[in-house]
Order: sequence, then structure tokens, then C-alpha cells
Amino acid sequence: MTNQVKIFDTTLRDGEQALPASLSAKEKLQIALALERLGVDVIEAGFPVSSPGDFKSVEMIAREVKNSTVCGLSRALPADIDACGQALKVAEQFRIHTFIATSDIHVNSKLKKSQDDIVEMAVAAVKHARNYTNDVEFSCEDAGRTHIDYLCRMVEAAIAAGATTVNIPDTVGYTTPTEFGGIIKSLFDRVPNIDQAIISVHCHNDLGLAVANSLAAVEQGARQVECTLNGIGERAGNAALEEIAMILQTRKDMLGLTTNINSSEISRSSKLVSQLCNMPIQSNKAIVGSNAFSHSSGIHQDGVLKSQNTYEIMTPESVGINKNNLNLTSRSGRHVIKHRLTELGYTSADYDLEAIYEAFLQLADKKGQVYDYDLEALLFFDKQKHDH
Ligand code: KIV
Ligand code: ZN
Repeated sequence: MTNQVKIFDTTLRDGEQALPASLSAKEKLQIALALERLGVDVIEAGFPVSSPGDFKSVEMIAREVKNSTVCGLSRALPADIDACGQALKVAEQFRIHTFIATSDIHVNSKLKKSQDDIVEMAVAAVKHARNYTNDVEFSCEDAGRTHIDYLCRMVEAAIAAGATTVNIPDTVGYTTPTEFGGIIKSLFDRVPNIDQAIISVHCHNDLGLAVANSLAAVEQGARQVECTLNGIGERAGNAALEEIAMILQTRKDMLGLTTNINSSEISRSSKLVSQLCNMPIQSNKAIVGSNAFSHSSGIHQDGVLKSQNTYEIMTPESVGINKNNLNLTSRSGRHVIKHRLTELGYTSADYDLEAIYEAFLQLADKKGQVYDYDLEALLFFDKQKHDH
């Protein structure tokens, strides 16, 4: 089995569909080009049958993107698949992604069909999509709540019909890592033709487990992860691309897996998505939050100044951030104040460290965070005191 995990980004489909205001075609293209620079293997650009606007933006992305496979979503219906084929045909490389729900809840309450009917529709959809391309992905929607015997049957049938990637979504973010990893393991143990397709996972974050569940699946042999930048998506969102990529990169020692992601593009791409989607990123968000490479405790600041890896498991540069940030607070020590003043261009001859540190602590106790301009003001007032 390969040690390469494909990154399938669905920011423009599962992410975009959950936004309060939709993106313009130009904004979608900007994001698609950022994803291409980031090294995403597959960009799910939209759902072409859903609207003329979506069709046009998928077509535009298919025309402009050269180094990633461009993908469109379709239900297991001929008209949806035809719309995908038409929108994507201008692409250098494209994939048709077709899906149908497989859990009892969805089959009985939403689709109101028999399990046999669903298998038949899935097989027909995959075969129809193969008329356009030999890169066809099939998803068992709500796989996380699908009976394992039926899931095995669906996966086997989809692969036999020509699906080259079979996706196992935890559509409602219901499973736990051990449980979801177990589902993937069962598929590898029980589906006879499983080695003829790549097994993919697509986890939602309703219980905050999307990334953990994706990782558990990868540990059991899944080799494609579907995710979005900043984890945007339906309800609580999808697995966050930046977290998946940095887990695989940072813990390559343990997992032995790689991706094509150029991690130094992460910060820039994340900011672009946040701005265009009007979705602020929480400051303590892993990898891309404004606090992700900040240190506040004096002990941590001192450690980081001596050796960055004392409190940083990855460098800020590795995700495209210039440098870490030491927050100046009442927990900061003299060492950090001296370091910051040196960065600001002062030498020890310019100030009395003890006096500045005392004034700094008084200000920090009142104010919380002390900024560079505060520090410079303290220096100015101290100098004035001495000059008079
Ligand atoms: O969450 C889901 O099941 C999906 C499918 C369409 C893949 O988004
Ligand atoms: Zn989804």
C-alpha cells in the first residue's frame, strides 16, 4: 500500500454550500488557484447541476486549474452526471464524484427506496460516469451510520462497476475515532476487490472529531482525506485541511505517511478563505489561529528564546508565518523584554532594564497585553525622568 495520502479539498463545495452568502465565480477561482498552489490533489469545485452559476464556476475552474484534478459532485442521477461531464470536459484532468445515501435512516426516510434499489442506482451512476472519465468517485452518504454488511456490499458493487475511489463519509459527525477506524478496517478485511480502489474518508465535525476520525481511518488504510480550509462546511464543518496536512507532516516519524501539500502556503490560503467567505478564524484554532504560534507564559517565552522546539512542535515558517509571537504580559520575564527591545533597535545602553521592567509590570497588571508602542512609551518616559 502506498504511503501517499491524497488531499481532496471540498472548500468550494461542502464549504461554500454552508456560507450565508455565496461566493462569486471570480472568488471561487481565486480560492481554486490558491488550492492548486497549496498542492491539493483533487479540488471539488462545486455541484454543477445545482444552478447555472455553479455550472459556470466549475467550468471556469476546470479551464484554469492545471496541476490539480478538478472534480464536480452529482447525485446518482444521469442528469447530474451529465452536467458534471459537461462542466468538467475542458479540464486537463477531472473526476466525477457521485453519491447516494446508504444508512437505513436515509434510505427509508429520505429516499424511500429498498436497499436493492440503492445498489442498482449506485452501480448505474458509476457506469454512467465512466462514460465521461475513468476517474470516478462514489460516496456512500451517511456511511458512519450504515450497517456494516450493507456498506461492504455497496463498496464492492461500486468498485466492480468502475469506481476508482470509494468515499466513506461520516456525514453527520456521529462516530468516534475507534469506531470509524473499525469501519475502515472492516472494509479492508471484508471487501474482496478493495485493492482496486482508493478508500477515501469525509468526516464532519459535529462532535469535534472530524480530524481525529480521519486520522483513525488513515491509520487503517484510507489513502484519501476529504477536508476544507479552516474546517468550514455544513453545520460544525468538515475536517480541517491544515490540521490533517500538519499532523501527517509533523508526525511522519510515527505515521510514515506523506501528502503533496506545500505547507508554507497554508497560512496565506487560510487567510484568503477566511476573508472571501467572511468567516473569522478563532484565535486558538490549531495551525492557522492568530494565537497558534504565540507564547504568553514567561517560562514558555524564556524556553522558546533559548530553543524554539521547547514549546513549538512545528515552526511558524513551515506553515508560512514569518515568526512566532511572544505576547508581553505580566507573566513575561526580563529576558523577553530585553529581547523585544533589541528587536525594536535599542541597545542596553539606551535603557535601564530594572526600571523599564518595573514600569512594564505595573502597566501589564493594569492593561493585560503590552504592545511594542507601549514599551517604547515606557522608554521615552524613563529617559525624560533621567534627563530632568
Ligand atoms: O457529507 C457527505 O456525506 C457529503 C457527501 C456528498 C460526500 O458531503
Ligand atoms: Zn459532507
